[in-house]
Amino acid sequence: MPVLAVVGGQWGDEGKGKIIDLLAGRAHVVVRAQGGDNAGHTVVNPRGKFALHLVPAGIFNEQTRCLIGPGVALNPETLLVEMDELARRGVSTDNLVISARAHLVMPYHPLFDKLEEESRGAGAIGTTGRGIGPTYSDKVGRVGIVAGDLLRPERFRQKVKASVDRKNLVLDRLYGAPPVEADAIIEKYLRHADRLGKYVAESEPILEQALKEGRTILLEGGHGTLLDLDHGTYPYVTTTSCTVGGLLNGAGIGPRHLTTAIGVFKAYQSRVGAGAMPSELLDDVGDHIRERGHEYGTTTGRPRRVGWFDAVAARHSMIVNGFHSIALTRIDILDDLDELQVCVAYELDGERVDHVPSQIEDLARCQPIYEGMSGWKVPTGDAQDWRDLPRQARDYVRLIEECVGAPAGLIGVGQEREKTIFTGALP
Ligand code: GDP
Ligand code: IMO
Ligand code: MG
Repeated sequence: MPVLAVVGGQWGDEGKGKIIDLLAGRAHVVVRAQGGDNAGHTVVNPRGKFALHLVPAGIFNEQTRCLIGPGVALNPETLLVEMDELARRGVSTDNLVISARAHLVMPYHPLFDKLEEESRGAGAIGTTGRGIGPTYSDKVGRVGIVAGDLLRPERFRQKVKASVDRKNLVLDRLYGAPPVEADAIIEKYLRHADRLGKYVAESEPILEQALKEGRTILLEGGHGTLLDLDHGTYPYVTTTSCTVGGLLNGAGIGPRHLTTAIGVFKAYQSRVGAGAMPSELLDDVGDHIRERGHEYGTTTGRPRRVGWFDAVAARHSMIVNGFHSIALTRIDILDDLDELQVCVAYELDGERVDHVPSQIEDLARCQPIYEGMSGWKVPTGDAQDWRDLPRQARDYVRLIEECVGAPAGLIGVGQEREKTIFTGALP
């Protein structure tokens, strides 16, 4: 009864969506376990190219149940837009299930996201503006509204009214902003409930049965380990736990069921939003990687910051996740480069540092120490087998495996589902 967790090893956008879509063919259930529509998972398969934000990337396999898990922050409005777009393109969402425990992103959450960002001034995090932080703040404050509430209109009304009363006080007193209207929100969300209600269910029996029957369950991570609330580059992080442990918890599956933890890493580094990034490239090489890799956010369209592969950060990721294997994506993006660098350590105040410092101010002062190697300068996009890769590309993969401490079970050489090499190292 395999349970596989697919987790971002870096700052997000490693290609988790592609890997889930690829593996979903063998899965009975795919669970999106945490985060919300701040995630943007691009999938390219025989049905076309899709940008998913909330719908699990297993949706293209009609045999797979796609569960939006208890740990997700669910914006019903953007979910409906996504479902409509899938339907328009002939992809059925009949197999979608929404955990009744998932917290709802309410219209005032993106508003607070914006106001909070503005109030941070120069210290702004560069959030996606989707209201994810404020939604989880309400969850932790135990005043959140959950998907199950949509099925009980009277209770939903009361909860929204109570919440709006509190929000309006803060809007007025703290931000001098106009109030929001409870009735308009209630009406709108109950209209959404008319459409979404049939998908809302208790998710535990579904997972219990799948586990009992020995079915394959895939846990789809949002974001990346360096954006994890506990283990990331705080405070420049998102507001959920994006690690293997976070996924198990967000889905509601006990750790003993986990069979395989796959860390998804891209062959270099990228980051959207603010915060230290020691191996960032601010030169022509960085521009080349950004353009060749179309490194622009799936959710916000912002240019992604890019840099050399950061093996120090990758080891940190390995420590907190314990990956069995990695999926190394996008080596094809590096095809044109004369030479490559891997950041193998940092230098901080004249000392060599082999771990990610917990204090963001220290990380911001870290200088990268690189190990260089020559590029392969031939296209890898058509490689179907490990032996099809040029020797320098294989050396590069070996170096990353060594640095991370886990074998590359999957190697990505293109956007499309089939542009993936299985090395045999995936348990
Ligand atoms: P996610 O958020 O982790 O799912 O990643 P995103 O979808 O935001 O960004 C990854 C991008 O890389 C997407 O456009 C994918 O289609 C693309 N991608 C994934 N694997 C590969 C690969 O091996 N090669 C190339 N060229 N693109 C890839
Ligand atoms: P996927 O799942 C890249 C970043 C934002 C910002 C920080 C906090 O596609 O890998 P938030 O809106 O979550 O409060 O923003 O986290 N961020 C992501 N960056 N990919 C993502 O998701 C991200 N989700 C959040 O850019 O720096
Ligand atoms: Mg993404």
